[in-house]
Amino acid sequence: MSLIKTFDQYQAAYQKSVNDPEAFWAEIAQEFKWRKPWTKTLDWNFTDPSIKWFQGGKLNITENCLDRHLTTRADQPAIVWEPNDPAEPGVTLTYRMLHDQVCRMANVLKRNGVVKGDRVCVYMPMVPELAITVLACARIGAIHSVVFGGFSAQSIADRINDAQCKVVVTSDGAYRGNKEIPMKDTVDDALIGCPSIERVIVMTRTRTPVAMLKGRDVWLEQELKHVTATCEAEEMDAEDVLFILYTSGSTGKPKGVVHTCGGYMVYAAYTFQTVFQYDTSAGTQPPLFFCTADIGWITGHSYIVYGPLATGGTSLLFEGVPTFPDAGRFWDIVDKHRVNIIYTAPTAIRSLMGAGLSHVAGHDLSSLQILGSVGEPINAEAWHWYDDNIGKNRCPVVDTWWQTETGGILISPIANVTKTKPTFATLPLPGIQPVLVDENGAEIEGNGVSGNLCIKFPWPGILRTTWGDHERCRQTYFSAYPGLYFTGDGCLRDEDGYYRITGRVDDVLNVSGHRIGTAEVENAINMHTGVVESAVVGYPHDIKGQGIYAYVITDDEQPIGHDTDLTKRDILATVTRVIGPIARPDKIQFVTGLPKTRSGKIMRRILRKIAEGDTANLGDTSTLLDPGVVDEIKKGAI
Ligand code: WTA
Repeated sequence: MSLIKTFDQYQAAYQKSVNDPEAFWAEIAQEFKWRKPWTKTLDWNFTDPSIKWFQGGKLNITENCLDRHLTTRADQPAIVWEPNDPAEPGVTLTYRMLHDQVCRMANVLKRNGVVKGDRVCVYMPMVPELAITVLACARIGAIHSVVFGGFSAQSIADRINDAQCKVVVTSDGAYRGNKEIPMKDTVDDALIGCPSIERVIVMTRTRTPVAMLKGRDVWLEQELKHVTATCEAEEMDAEDVLFILYTSGSTGKPKGVVHTCGGYMVYAAYTFQTVFQYDTSAGTQPPLFFCTADIGWITGHSYIVYGPLATGGTSLLFEGVPTFPDAGRFWDIVDKHRVNIIYTAPTAIRSLMGAGLSHVAGHDLSSLQILGSVGEPINAEAWHWYDDNIGKNRCPVVDTWWQTETGGILISPIANVTKTKPTFATLPLPGIQPVLVDENGAEIEGNGVSGNLCIKFPWPGILRTTWGDHERCRQTYFSAYPGLYFTGDGCLRDEDGYYRITGRVDDVLNVSGHRIGTAEVENAINMHTGVVESAVVGYPHDIKGQGIYAYVITDDEQPIGHDTDLTKRDILATVTRVIGPIARPDKIQFVTGLPKTRSGKIMRRILRKIAEGDTANLGDTSTLLDPGVVDEIKKGAI
């Protein structure tokens, strides 16, 4: 793939992608290894919706991520692993080693009954085996559903049941900072309600004692003794499902976003190479790319595993957290491994900024060439801190906007090509046609305008459906504005035509870069015995971007003012139990009523204002059933 080197080249590529999208993407897709070429590049409508890229094409993504590189870069590092504890030796896997381990793992899955099309739940720490398992599933055509290691047993169970997974791959425990976290125990709790699971494959990481159920549970290390490193890749259709990844929406339980083999591969690799100017010319060691996300999120799928490997790159996988042993850990890793590109979230930048520059000092960051940001809007202060103190004003900051549903980056500067502007994701990548619409769905043209962000033409990485419920996919993304994909984000297009994503316009929160639905948190709070009703909104939070503010009505048995601290702690424990620690409210306010319209709808706008501390401008409250509750809530605001 030839890289875009100048702004003129970007504009030319963009024009081509709009004038003839099929020719544009066909040319890029041709650079991959297809067992059989596709017959139709694109077939789509956003009504059903039905989106098919590279129809008739046959491939296996792991042949592209592994086998294809064995002739040219077998001994080049594919994955560099940095453990949680800096004193523990790391691991470097070359392409040859990774290929062998993926084949072995694929054979373990096969031995345990996994066949093409089966769903495999992966609940693991950030160890090489996680990437290996993901690729092993893809190798044999099994569909992986990775569940972030911070989710609760209940969340795992919901995801397993929704996808009817047959096998879980997990570990005994996980290291996270100075904590040791049980994994297998949590899976055991989940599996009480998961009849579809036939096998649990357990990797050893922490040597925490675990219960191994005869007939169901096996040790990975034992299984590996019985397999060889030869495993032919399954031939997949371009539109066969590659993976499911659950993500939160404004209503109901998280939905399983579905990505398929051909389009996702092309898009993850193209955006990786383009945005980060990732050069894999033969004969050179490509840059070391450090994406700090967890593979449990889409960022890890696309930019730790598939994008870098499909490109023949070297990806650094870090098990730990940015603040262990201290807030200099990222910079320690950059220094130690000579990282060239770092890709992290604004929440991490803000928290490290808060820890002070003494943690940056003493680390040699001269290897860095590009700084990436992802997951949430980056505020100007964090942008400049990153640019000044980490990049020393010599590395472009690429603020990349995208979503689980988009498979890869949609709006972003191209490093060293697009002029950056703090807090702006800048311009759409080639192939992406953004539009801003008003509440009535009318397109807002011109510059210096704001609206809801939609995309009007498909790109190869767009989601195809939501698992088991196509109607939900249609309703969520394609019904608000007929003919357009609706992102759920608000957006400003400034006088230069640059895009700044201003945040969600639906009931989805973005807490520390994690997507959480307000309805999900409310359901979890309502599971607590003493809770009658609750309403959850977001509010600006210095480090997390958004904090979670919960208004809670309790019953008479647990009166307000009576040991409310304990009730709060019980509610927090309930949310941790139902979803996981990431969804714990930062603030809980007990109230006796919620502002509701006469038709019973909670007026979140008012609750949001109060949570933001903006009580002077509550707007029109005359339509409320009982305007009196607003005063009470205002008085008790935290
Ligand atoms: C938000 C993460 C502003 C946005 C890749 C989006 C951003 C949601 C940015 C998707 C950015 C992501 N600037 N906001 N650069 N990147 N977002 O599915 O609200 O976990 O809709 O995907 O994060 O979150 P998700």
